[in-house]
Amino acid sequence: MKSLPNTLSIDIGGTGVKLIVLDAKGSPLCDREREETPHPATPESIFRVIEELTHKVPEFDRIAVGFPGVIRDGIVETAANLDVHWVGVNLASQLEQCFGKPVRVANDADVQGFGCISGKGLEMVITLGTGMGSALFVNGVLVPNLELAHHQLKKGMTYEDYVGRYALESVGKKKWTKRVQNVIENTKLVWNWDLLHLGGGNAKLLKDVELPDTVRLHSNKSGVMGGFVLWQDV
Ligand code: BGC
Repeated sequence: MKSLPNTLSIDIGGTGVKLIVLDAKGSPLCDREREETPHPATPESIFRVIEELTHKVPEFDRIAVGFPGVIRDGIVETAANLDVHWVGVNLASQLEQCFGKPVRVANDADVQGFGCISGKGLEMVITLGTGMGSALFVNGVLVPNLELAHHQLKKGMTYEDYVGRYALESVGKKKWTKRVQNVIENTKLVWNWDLLHLGGGNAKLLKDVELPDTVRLHSNKSGVMGGFVLWQDV
């Protein structure tokens, strides 16, 4: 008898490539494996890292990918923090050819959201990593590819310029934290979310910061856990 499908969930980031294998109920079958994102972060170099990492995890039947850019029908439309050669790549079909397994791809913040939302009301997800990811869910239904990152916030600065990794490195943790608090206020004013989920590698820097009780902090792990949801209709 064929066993229930395992999902290889991949989170491609500007700093790290992470993956894990989840069982048919979405529970991890192994530790999350991680490798630094190669530079230049071309499709070829990232495919190589993914291929190498898969040798460390159990077998899988299907693949889910969170990608740091706009994705439409499995095809990459933007990749602000990776190599420009990603634009136009059919990520879903290339990975399908590489592994011989079906692949579903979505924006990384969208996938992260699937891993942490409650499914009630208007929920916003902001990921604080190399870039700034954003996602919006209405009663658990995704509004795909919300790209707040490249929206102008102030003085010619985009949200990503303001709270992305390079901003953190240049202004330091204290000022960056204040900036994140401004982003929280700003997004509340515009989107009137019921819950705001903060994820991504740098969200942990906020663990001792007093935040409104409608703001939830999540570990970067929800980036790979959410991949399971991409396959939940099957
Ligand atoms: C990209 C988004 C992505 C975010 C986090 C931004 O630069 O435009 O699509 O979600 O980085 O990786």
